[in-house]
Amino acid sequence: MLELHQAGAPYYPEFFGDERGSATVPVPIYLVPPSPSHTTSRAELQRLINSIPVKIVVVDRDACIVAINGACQPYLRAVGLDLHLVAGQSYYAVKARFAAPPQDARSVSEHVAALCQHSTPFSQTLSFPLAGQDIRMVVHGERLPGAEDLFILSHLDDEDPESETANPRRYHLSMLQAEEEERKRIARELHDETAQQLALMQFNLMTLRNSDMSPQANDAYQAMESALKAIQDQVRTLSYLLHPPELAEDGIEAALAHFTRGFARRSGLQVEFRCLSGPIKRDPDMEIAFYRVAQEALANVYKHADARHAVVRLRRTQTSFTLEIEDDGRGVPEHILNGQGRDIVGVGLSGMRERVAALAGQLEVRRTGAGTLVTATIPRRRQTD
Ligand SMILES: Nc1ncnc2c1ncn2[C@@H]1O[C@H](COP(=O)(O)OP(=O)(O)OP(=O)(O)O)[C@@H](O)[C@H]1O
Ligand SMILES: [Mg+2]
Repeated sequence: MLELHQAGAPYYPEFFGDERGSATVPVPIYLVPPSPSHTTSRAELQRLINSIPVKIVVVDRDACIVAINGACQPYLRAVGLDLHLVAGQSYYAVKARFAAPPQDARSVSEHVAALCQHSTPFSQTLSFPLAGQDIRMVVHGERLPGAEDLFILSHLDDEDPESETANPRRYHLSMLQAEEEERKRIARELHDETAQQLALMQFNLMTLRNSDMSPQANDAYQAMESALKAIQDQVRTLSYLLHPPELAEDGIEAALAHFTRGFARRSGLQVEFRCLSGPIKRDPDMEIAFYRVAQEALANVYKHADARHAVVRLRRTQTSFTLEIEDDGRGVPEHILNGQGRDIVGVGLSGMRERVAALAGQLEVRRTGAGTLVTATIPRRRQTD
């Protein structure tokens, strides 16, 4: 059963921490698989809709807003509303704040009423002036799959269907941001749930330590203890790699210093980290991109380079941030450098390239005299659209 908070109850403002602007994608949206056995919590629903770069409103049978995502915020602000104020309000009342022609507005209201009362899906165009611009959008309504009494209204800017590809960088950036949010959530879950359960197991196991055991039972006990320890280490490392806490707290310099130390320990490679400029001003998009590039580039050094030594260099110039990862290994094969064999190699290099390109930057991979040099450059003042 789908559990949602009641109309009028406060929702969770922490899910609206980042604003993805008004990037829109003309695709139908299915939030919850239409399986009757599917269960989701309201926090899960909120998280799901907030990771979608389309303006989404979920209403109940009375057309009261029970959930709304961050993509709506720019439009709401333009008419003097805020996400925090509209939860629990009537969808009709909020819509009335936008100066749509009466005929359009009435038609949308009728469709919403039919949707809420009879689950009748619809798609209807709505136009209105907003902050000096003529906005035209398609309102699409349908019952939320799996939920009897909830209805999803998505609002797609009705532009050229090419618009998604016309602005791929911005779209891709919002997808990457959603992916990072998801990693953060999994890291938290591993830390708060899985690690706690393992700690409980360890505690229970310890109570056996002093009991009389046959030699076979003792062997089994020892094997279980060391397996448990290995799992705990893996969970801790995985949770850390998914979302390194110091990246959000202390910034890229501290995160890379910590990561390279841990990587050297785990891999046996000599890894050095150098920050070649003064303190680097916080820039979360650049920080995540550089962190993921360093992770993948060092993983490649470990897997492919047969190197002994790698160095990671971070620097800031007047106009850009640069991250370099250099190793003293066998060098990237020529056929990879000139783009051949793209279909037989992995996704690492192309993923790094896409991440950096989403921030209007560039990734260069080249052979040096001895080894490989990967350079990611991201402009400091950038426009992603
Ligand atoms: N530092 C390096 N030294 C030598 N070869 C490299 C290095 N980095 C990448 N390569 C070569 O480039 C290829 C493509 O790298 P890429 O990261 O895209 O894929 P992968 O590492 O093989 O797979 P995946 O990253 O998907 O796990 C590698 O298979 C390897 O041949
Ligand atoms: Mg790789």
